[in-house]
Amino acid sequence: MASEPTTVTITGAGGQIGYALLFRIAAGDMLGPDRPVRLRLLEIPQGMRAAEGAALELQDCAFPLLHDVEVTDDLLTAFNGTSIALLVGARPRGPGMERGDLLAANAGIFGPQGAAIGAVAADDVRAVVVGNPANTNALIAAASAAPDIPADRFSALTRLDHNRAVGQLADVLEVGPGDIADVIIWGNHSATQFPDVAHATLADGRSVLEALAERLGNREAATAWLDDVFIPRVAKRGAEIIEVRGSSSVASAANAAIEHVRDEQLGTHRGWTSAAVVSRGEYGVPEGLVCSLPVVSRGDDRGYRIIEGLEFDARARARFEASVDELVAERDAVRALGVL
Ligand code: NAD
Ligand code: LMR
Repeated sequence: MASEPTTVTITGAGGQIGYALLFRIAAGDMLGPDRPVRLRLLEIPQGMRAAEGAALELQDCAFPLLHDVEVTDDLLTAFNGTSIALLVGARPRGPGMERGDLLAANAGIFGPQGAAIGAVAADDVRAVVVGNPANTNALIAAASAAPDIPADRFSALTRLDHNRAVGQLADVLEVGPGDIADVIIWGNHSATQFPDVAHATLADGRSVLEALAERLGNREAATAWLDDVFIPRVAKRGAEIIEVRGSSSVASAANAAIEHVRDEQLGTHRGWTSAAVVSRGEYGVPEGLVCSLPVVSRGDDRGYRIIEGLEFDARARARFEASVDELVAERDAVRALGVL
């Protein structure tokens, strides 16, 4: 093999998203065709057999880039020397469970995982949280990894929301998804998120707002479509998938996680993307919150950099603030549990 393998840890590897992730990572879709990988699959005891079965199948693929696979239910083994952690396994909301119960259950998962990453991961480790509530789970993991690992090495996945927004626009504008740049998801990976096209452009140089007005008749029709169709459809797409499929998104979530890590590691190309990253106060977001913002990466050791200085109108600002308020409430609920 060309170079030293990169250790990648996937938690919840025996679950649905885990199964959709493993084979693509081993095939080189995440880190490119030149970087061999060593996979560490973390599960809880109930999920071990499923993860072990996936490991057998990985062996049967004989991927040239796959150095080795280890399945474990031990945190320190899973994160030992890891450079990339995909934190997928989480406690789903059960019957009668309140949001506070869910936050408490997940604090019990992401606290110890963050601490283990702080203790034994590689110096260059970066972790992305997929398991919900993703932003606040990332906040908990980052706080638990301190002071060994800087908080900004942790992020949460809103690339799926970003891709959903691009998919909706491509459909209505009858253009390729690759022709659309600079869409933004602001806020939380929840129904309060604000999918924003105010800065988005098309490959032919038009703004998305201009193209929508042409397509739908005029500016008012474009604004009505954004308010009544686009924003709620993107923000509630997770629920729509659950209703139609009978369980939450899997392949699209795994794809988004792979794109999130790939762009962070190798660099973004045309325009920016969206990721939930640790705020240093940009756009008035309280410092330390893990909030979806527009980001770019140059593929260097700084990871994602926040695009600053974009303007909001009053309606956009109100939507963004509502989502940030929800993140503040989640953080405060976790603080009340004594976790942060
Ligand atoms: P799943 O139930 O199929 O798999 C979850 C796996 O995690 C299970 O195998 C379980 O045993 C394991 N697990 C639970 N606790 C664990 C722990 N402490 N350590 C290690 N493993 C643990 O669920 P899924 O469909 O793979 O979804 C996983 C998570 O991703 C859910 O929280 C879901 O809501 C979330 N999700 C997020 C996005 C996003 O865009 N951020 C999109 C889709 C799904
Ligand atoms: C999604 O956006 O598809 C998921 O986060 C939905 C969910 O609740 O698992």
